[in-house]
Amino acid sequence: MTARPAESARPVTPVAIAADLVRSAVARLDGADPDVLADLARAGRLLAGLDEYVGRCTTPASSALEALEERTRSEPWGSGLEQEMLSGHAEGAFLAMLVAITGARDVLEIGMFTGYSALAMAEAMPAGSRLVACEVDERAAAIAREALGAAPAGTLVDVRVAPALDTLRDLGAAGDRFDLVFVDADKAGYAGYLDALVDLGLLAPGAVVAVDNTLMQGEPWASATPTANGAAIAAFNARLAADPRWEQVLLPLRDGVTLARRAG
Ligand SMILES: C[S@@+](CC[C@H](N)C(=O)[O-])C[C@H]1O[C@@H](n2cnc3c(N)ncnc32)[C@H](O)[C@@H]1O
Repeated sequence: MTARPAESARPVTPVAIAADLVRSAVARLDGADPDVLADLARAGRLLAGLDEYVGRCTTPASSALEALEERTRSEPWGSGLEQEMLSGHAEGAFLAMLVAITGARDVLEIGMFTGYSALAMAEAMPAGSRLVACEVDERAAAIAREALGAAPAGTLVDVRVAPALDTLRDLGAAGDRFDLVFVDADKAGYAGYLDALVDLGLLAPGAVVAVDNTLMQGEPWASATPTANGAAIAAFNARLAADPRWEQVLLPLRDGVTLARRAG
């Protein structure tokens, strides 16, 4: 697993945010009851060590994925994109496992960024299968193309640079169907992407849809003043949970991944 430079990434998962808050609270509790301090310190250790432990117990990333993570972290982002968007080791391994156990041969990614999750999934796909990756940002797509071009599995990835809904319409018009879809683009667009997948006939029978960031840094349940992304995810989660045409489970991996499929 690639060691994440401690100074380079701000906490973006509920657990990492909670670990930071506890660490900061303990540092300010000089003179407090030692039992309270000991309990807080233990809570801090539980939270701060979880992601590292999950990574240690997960199959290591390939050298191509490690190089891509380093490349992404070294880019001076800005203009709405940031290194923290990259899903990373544990989630990449999870998606690769999902590809393997579903036997998916046609995979769609909505929100590719620099290609980490696309490459992680492609590495688990057999020759002759394909992954269509949607990305709207040319700069992120250029880094992805470079990394995919250097990795054998990269030949399976078909990068489409355009607003994802446009690409979905093109794919629907071409009669394409997907066994697995990973949704990881603009959070306000999530509900529309799910509708488009159904309305455009893009889901093969039994298709699985994995949706990223459905915990959105804990905002849906722990923030009185959620950001636009927090509010969008809270609304998306509530809508999906209330829709009997879908069945789903929200897994607390990293910033939350919901697995959904059409019911019945
Ligand atoms: C969280 S990042 C994706 C991370 C990536 N899946 C990974 O694991 O490394 C979200 C990406 O979605 C892209 N995006 C946002 N809105 C989009 C849209 N309407 N169509 C296509 N891509 C979009 C952003 O440019 C960004 O690169």
